[in-house]
Amino acid sequence: MPKMRLDKFLKDQGLASRSEVKEWIKKGRVRINDRVERDPGAHVDTDRDQVFLDGNAVCYREFVYYMLNKPKGVITATEDMKQETVLDLLPEELQRRELFPVGRLDKDTEGLLLLTNDGIFAHELLSPKKHVTKLYEAELDVFPGDRAIAAFKQGVVLDDGYQALPADLEFVSLSPRVIARVEVVEGKFHQIKRMFKAVGATVTALKRLRMGTVWLDDTLKPGEFRELTEEEILALGGKPS
Ligand code: URA
Repeated sequence: MPKMRLDKFLKDQGLASRSEVKEWIKKGRVRINDRVERDPGAHVDTDRDQVFLDGNAVCYREFVYYMLNKPKGVITATEDMKQETVLDLLPEELQRRELFPVGRLDKDTEGLLLLTNDGIFAHELLSPKKHVTKLYEAELDVFPGDRAIAAFKQGVVLDDGYQALPADLEFVSLSPRVIARVEVVEGKFHQIKRMFKAVGATVTALKRLRMGTVWLDDTLKPGEFRELTEEEILALGGKPS
């Protein structure tokens, strides 16, 4: 039976810090079903019990899933002493939910970044065995020629000798800027930049557009985020609640 402490239950829903939540409970603001519970260590059965704060039901959601349009200039990390992280972009109640990014985008890369507290979901999405596709749009300094399409299809050899898995490359514009779209099934360090390096071009801007079947919501401005829909969570293998 999914039982947990009452203070953890409320804290995990992002309502407040554990110490604040304990105070609420001691002041009699919290009910489990029809009983006022003043013990922060009392147990809640998340399947059966209903918890109320000041008379309002608190819905229990174990896992949450968000998409962020990561802006350039922030790092993909949960905390950092000096630099702004993707989690700094979220409001406090979400920061309390202990979210983490699914994979990483470079500091100067923008676009789709998933954030969740579901470790298994993240692990599965990133597992090389699952071959989840990722679509990027890259701006290049020069057109590397159509031969790059065949080279990507075959698997380019990166600067450390690693042969990348086959990838689909297309050019969506050659002038005034060279814009390419590339779909990969892996996520090595600086993968896209190094793949283009291997065919003689430098990536001057990079954006992730899609993971699996889930596209970056084009209504999200850089720095904005939203929850994944139930269909998106299911499509990526998560558990909507
Ligand atoms: N490939 C890169 O080179 N950078 C990213 O941020 C993501 C993929």
